[in-house]
Amino acid sequence: MPPSEAEHELVICMGSSCFARGNSRAVETAREFLRTRHLEDCVHLTGTLCQDRCRQGPNLTFDGECHCEVEPSKLTGLLEDLLDDLTPGSR
Ligand code: FES
Repeated sequence: MPPSEAEHELVICMGSSCFARGNSRAVETAREFLRTRHLEDCVHLTGTLCQDRCRQGPNLTFDGECHCEVEPSKLTGLLEDLLDDLTPGSR
């Protein structure tokens, strides 16, 4: 569960394999995505150590569901899929 009052939690793997395969940039991309859509208060963004799924990386978890092979070029599209319903005025 999210540790703050946020309704949702986005966890980006910062283990060395995922970090090297694109998650080094994912935090900033996700932070900017949440900021521009005014979602910072409802989505808690955090990082984690290796989750032992390195072969499927880069990985992230949204509300406990793992998303694998999230290359940097795919991240914004995935965030749109996951968060568009939460974005004010998106529908
Ligand atoms: S470094 Fe991300 S699962 Fe191992």
